[in-house]
Amino acid sequence: MNPGTVAAACKATTLFEWVAQDGYTPLEIVSAEGSAFRTADGRRVLDFASQLVVTNLGHSLEPIHRRVYEASRELSYVTPLAATRQRAELGARLAAFTPDHLTKFFFANSGTEANNDAIRIARAVTGRRHILYRGRSYHGSHGPAAMSSDDDRRRLWEQEPTYSVPFRAGSGVVRDDVAAFRWAVEALGPRGIAAAVIEAVPGGSGVLVPADGYLAGIAEVCREHGILLICDEVLTGFGRTGRRFAFEHWDLRPDLVTMGKALSAGVAPIAAVAVSAEIAERFGDTPLGCGHTFSAHPLTAVAASAALDEYERTNAVERAAKLGEVLGRGLHTVAGSSDAVVRVRSIGMLGALELTEAEVTRLKHWHQRLLDAGVYVIAKGANLIVAPPLVIDRTELDEGLATMARVLAG
Ligand SMILES: Cc1ncc(COP(=O)(O)O)c(C=O)c1O
Repeated sequence: MNPGTVAAACKATTLFEWVAQDGYTPLEIVSAEGSAFRTADGRRVLDFASQLVVTNLGHSLEPIHRRVYEASRELSYVTPLAATRQRAELGARLAAFTPDHLTKFFFANSGTEANNDAIRIARAVTGRRHILYRGRSYHGSHGPAAMSSDDDRRRLWEQEPTYSVPFRAGSGVVRDDVAAFRWAVEALGPRGIAAAVIEAVPGGSGVLVPADGYLAGIAEVCREHGILLICDEVLTGFGRTGRRFAFEHWDLRPDLVTMGKALSAGVAPIAAVAVSAEIAERFGDTPLGCGHTFSAHPLTAVAASAALDEYERTNAVERAAKLGEVLGRGLHTVAGSSDAVVRVRSIGMLGALELTEAEVTRLKHWHQRLLDAGVYVIAKGANLIVAPPLVIDRTELDEGLATMARVLAG
């Protein structure tokens, strides 16, 4: 297949996510290396999105590829009920990578699945049905995870039944208001609420860094009422915010943590639910009601273990904390030179430029102009979301920020 014909060929036989198909023109990516990818017309584009906040380690992943290839010569698939070295190694690796109170891991194939499994586990453990979620949040594309999301795509799945209830202050207003959370808990009846599912920093909603005390306040209300706290780290995990997991910035101790996206640095689709020892023990004599054919797949497990080794070898998390300061400053400079940007939010290597009301309808225009100038970001809602690889060269980071400043000033 010739480059340049691939987009049309994809459209001829496949469906693209979330979009009306006819007017959609997919970007044709032919290769990628380091922090950049190449398009079919031969252009080098800085990947300031890590694709979908997945390729935290960039695109040169030879050490991980090698480990997966070697593992594939031993074993490619076994039933998830079997024990394998690959599974044991990943469990141990994750136990070392996550805070001490998280002791066991259940494996899924996507962030949505991990959140659905976490919700099911929380319901089983508490014997309660309701799930609380934040206004402006995204936890998945189907099932309870979708119904526990407040995202602009929600209209596409709204018809599904739900026991999930959003918490927010007033109609449509989103504030970091513990009182609003407490109100939602009391209005619903705490004894019916299994869990609150939160992103410590809602990412796709525009990198909403919480006010100090907000998450601690939510955790306290949960503790008071025996409501489990699920932290969704699917987008923010693995160093993205300058800590291994975003909730660590605020010393939270969630009962369950979900992760996906960058767990294998994008080499294989794998996600996980981490649970505390107390939750794991509840399934000592009660069957766990979750399962997937590809759970703990030996090759995805190896990809994730190898990625965790690479996170360590490259000091990716510490690097993200340091480079994050450069990114934050750079985004403020971009905003300062642009009439289109009204607000900047960032934490570590995750940032958002919120467009002015007048410019929101031109979000796609700005996204395309940036792409034409050689920088790829995510356009979502009112925001241009920026999430470069954690291992990006300082010169490439500066180059991308300078390009953004130039384009958005125009
Ligand atoms: C915070 C969060 N949770 C869950 C998901 C869903 O993950 P997946 O698309 O792998 O199902 C996403 C996807 O963007 C996400 O950002």
